[in-house]
Amino acid sequence: MPDRYAVIGNPVAHSKSPAIHTAFAAATGEDIVYDRLPAPLDGFAATVEAFVHGGGRGLNVTVPFKLEAFAVARDASDRARAAGACNTLKRTDDGWYADNTDGAGLVRDLTVNLGVALGGRDVLVLGAGGAARGILVPLLAEGVRSVTISNRTVAKGDALARQFAPRGAVAAVAPQDLAGQAFDVVINATSAGLAGDVVLPWPGGLFRPGAFAYDLVYADVATPFVRWAREQHATRTADGLGMLIEQAAESFFLWRGVRPDTRSVFALLRAPG
Ligand code: ATR
Repeated sequence: MPDRYAVIGNPVAHSKSPAIHTAFAAATGEDIVYDRLPAPLDGFAATVEAFVHGGGRGLNVTVPFKLEAFAVARDASDRARAAGACNTLKRTDDGWYADNTDGAGLVRDLTVNLGVALGGRDVLVLGAGGAARGILVPLLAEGVRSVTISNRTVAKGDALARQFAPRGAVAAVAPQDLAGQAFDVVINATSAGLAGDVVLPWPGGLFRPGAFAYDLVYADVATPFVRWAREQHATRTADGLGMLIEQAAESFFLWRGVRPDTRSVFALLRAPG
């Protein structure tokens, strides 16, 4: 019987994780099966329990269960604790081990795949929800000069900055107060791009010459943030497909001890049609 893995969420039907992990397994020769695991909104723990009894060894966790997944775990990595959320569960003899590979996936996509040096850079993070929380510690670990958090609801941005300030140069600035400031890397960690046409509350002029704009959201066409960044003359842009694949590779490594090659999977998923 191959070891079983799955992505758990609600909804989960459109997740690309099964395609990614199945490709990783084929390329590395690991004997696993990877499925979608839909869970009722009030049934996360019961679904996870049943999965273990059926031979489940690990889970990727997506919306809206990242906090609950962290809560069911017996132990957790530092990066999962810092994020307060978990996108990867690994079954051990003691129960579940929680990790959060999202930030590592972002950093690897930026630095390795896209060639963006983060050391000494001024980074702007738009948003202060779960996605923003998951990337702050890995960004700081790259030696950035500063991380500025800017959120539509200012109090939430302030609270996040206060929480992470002991770990590095993190500050919050209200959207309207960003006028006149510019950054080397601007990361969209809001869910604004998911809703189609949106008016972003940030002023123009945020991109330094040579600046990179990165959207954690991915789509088959340019996301609203990527389109906005191009209008604002960001020199380079990327959406979050690379991060999605890199966070999956990091999860695969945690589960199997083997690091899969990600470039071929990126080409497969980005290919038109
Ligand atoms: P996630 O887990 O994807 O981060 P979340 O925790 O619900 O989801 O956070 C959503 C983030 O997107 C928040 O920072 C939210 O801003 P508010 O705190 O002001 O709600 C941000 N967001 C969502 N829609 C937005 C919009 N149209 N413009 C600006 N920010 C938006």
